[in-house]
Amino acid sequence: MPSFRVELPASPHDVHIGVGLLARFNEMLSAARLDRRRTVIVTDETVGGQYAAPLLEQLGARASLVTVPPGENSKSLATLAYLYEQFARLELDRSSVVVALGGGVIGDLAGFAAATYLRGIALVQAPTTLLAQVDSALGGKTAINLPSGKNLVGAFYQPRAIIADIATLTTLPERTFREGLAEVIKYGAIRDAPFIDWLETAMPQILARDPEHLTTVVERSLRHKAYVVTNDERESGLRQILNFGHTFGHALETASGYGNYFHGEAVAIGMVVASRLSRHYAGLSADDAGRLAGLIARAGLPTRMPDGWRSEEFLSALRHDKKRAGEGIEFVLLDRLGHALLRKLDFDRILAVA
Ligand SMILES: NC(=O)c1ccc[n+]([C@@H]2O[C@H](COP(=O)([O-])OP(=O)(O)OC[C@H]3O[C@@H](n4cnc5c(N)ncnc54)[C@H](O)[C@@H]3O)[C@@H](O)[C@H]2O)c1
Repeated sequence: MPSFRVELPASPHDVHIGVGLLARFNEMLSAARLDRRRTVIVTDETVGGQYAAPLLEQLGARASLVTVPPGENSKSLATLAYLYEQFARLELDRSSVVVALGGGVIGDLAGFAAATYLRGIALVQAPTTLLAQVDSALGGKTAINLPSGKNLVGAFYQPRAIIADIATLTTLPERTFREGLAEVIKYGAIRDAPFIDWLETAMPQILARDPEHLTTVVERSLRHKAYVVTNDERESGLRQILNFGHTFGHALETASGYGNYFHGEAVAIGMVVASRLSRHYAGLSADDAGRLAGLIARAGLPTRMPDGWRSEEFLSALRHDKKRAGEGIEFVLLDRLGHALLRKLDFDRILAVA
């Protein structure tokens, strides 16, 4: 079972990745040396229905379950208030533990509840989607949405442990599984050319969800995320390279009328656009750009902007990107596969090439 430590000075914690870890959850929590006067598992109905019972059985009488509806709508003030009420009813104290069992929605929501209840109680991330296992469970970002925008209320709050059971990935719907691969490919593109080589040959086994291949995928991705986060916890510099593909991706998600892209699908298209910009403005070779687009396509992800994408709504979403810098955007580009850099591009230069 691969394990490693995220060496954040104020909040170091272990990451465990392997098949069947939920069956050893009690042991893993003990290894994290947490006081566990009470343990609350926060999950959604879909994940809870499949994975909560054996956990509750292992953790015994001092463990409880709080379940919310699945989906992005649960990252709301109303659901957060519901969690606080349940925490109060269950008499959580500063020696209690919140386990976030689920995808990125549960990780962000339960993480923010743990960050703020009693000014912070211990949090363990138990991610069950590929996206959460390779990305959102590590890094300490927690948040809920407001009607006026996504992730507007949140906190940096590090978990005390991350326990990623690869076996949970077998029950993911196909489209949800594949969208997680966009973030995996991203790590290769920005930091690890040999990982891209490996993904090119391993893609059939990954798509078949072979547990050994998935363990490698999750471990290698999380090690990259851990490196970036430990060197820039609050996103003031290096961490920005994780936004590769996200500028066009976010605009596609925000502007309506393009069909409903999943986040990873929008990022996949965004990476292809960013590599086109990289060819013109950062010296990326045509060969490297072609390889990246080919790999994204082989993961079953889209690579083309939708027809007629230059709508007012899309351009306005792009102009309001949070990476905006004066008349342009701070873009993450590649000068070669496996190496990213930041470059400010004005809108004319972006639209001339995208
Ligand atoms: N904190 C961060 O750094 C960070 C980074 C990226 C994304 N996010 C957030 O993550 C969220 C998206 O996360 P997500 O894509 O995991 O979505 P999600 O949590 O909504 O999960 C997707 C769906 O899969 C189901 N599911 C989860 N695990 C399952 C399993 N093992 N088997 C069967 N079904 C399962 C869920 O019930 C849900 O319906 C967004 O809110 C986004 O803002 C946060």
